[in-house]
Amino acid sequence: MDVSNLSGKMAVVTGAASGIGRETALELARRGADLALCDVDQDGLESVASEVEALGRKAIRRTADVASSAEMERFAAAVHAEVDAVDILVNNAGVGVGGGFLHTSLEDWEWLIGINLKGVIHGCHFFLPPMVERRSGHVVNVASAAGFVATEALSAYSTTKFAVVGLSEALHEELSHYDIGVTTICPGVINTAITRSSRMVGPMATEEARDEVVRAYERRNYGPELVAKNILHAIGRNRAVTPVSPEAWTMYFAKRFAPRATAWLVRAVSARERGKRGL
Ligand SMILES: NC(=O)c1ccc[n+]([C@@H]2O[C@H](COP(=O)([O-])OP(=O)(O)OC[C@H]3O[C@@H](n4cnc5c(N)ncnc54)[C@H](O)[C@@H]3O)[C@@H](O)[C@H]2O)c1
Repeated sequence: MDVSNLSGKMAVVTGAASGIGRETALELARRGADLALCDVDQDGLESVASEVEALGRKAIRRTADVASSAEMERFAAAVHAEVDAVDILVNNAGVGVGGGFLHTSLEDWEWLIGINLKGVIHGCHFFLPPMVERRSGHVVNVASAAGFVATEALSAYSTTKFAVVGLSEALHEELSHYDIGVTTICPGVINTAITRSSRMVGPMATEEARDEVVRAYERRNYGPELVAKNILHAIGRNRAVTPVSPEAWTMYFAKRFAPRATAWLVRAVSARERGKRGL
């Protein structure tokens, strides 16, 4: 797809009120696309929709929880009342749980799987069939570097992101028969509100532990606008998997070409973290 000029195209972005979703929506609008945006944060959604409109583009917006099939079905129906099929689908909405399996409750699992995995499934389920019928378009699923390297500090989060990587790889094969591209985005450490909205469990469930994470992401200072640019680039090149930040690329290659060294490093980092928390 030519991403230098997207006028006449309709792009869906879930979780558009903040961070990577917000910046991706704005980057798509700057390149001429109309937007269909959803989020659970109504004020944030209204704010990004106004910015899209200020750029001269249309912004359909719906407060919708990606974990709810009924709400996503209603969102898709509202979009398909305007266009037969969307051109770009960005399944971005996501949340985090920081902490190990032994401290993760079943309710935490339901919450995380509902948003991070079922949210992507719902986006694909409701928006793909018309794209397939028209035989064109591109799907972007926002996974994570935690979707190919798992650590004990992100046990449940990694589980959902490994699943998104798997689903995206399978879709990449299946949808190639219909001229629809599929890109898996693995951002890395990106300075967004996710460090504040994530649930922390077990020894991570302290203000100090959260502040440490927030500060580490702030120090890294890799902005979501850079992820948005990479998403557009990946759509243009029809890339299958796109790590974004340098650490995401390093983890991607390390896991492939030096899996034992990667496992050793992950264990060393975990041991240091455990030591810090007196475990
Ligand atoms: N920030 C990072 O370091 C990082 C790294 C790797 C992957 N990611 C992934 O990037 C995506 C975007 O995260 P971000 O960093 O921009 O975070 P963010 O918190 O800034 O944005 C996430 C957005 O999703 C929305 N959202 C949450 N639950 C929702 C639901 N049930 N339905 C609809 N919308 C919902 C939030 O309201 C928010 O606007 C997520 O999938 C996340 O897992 C982020």
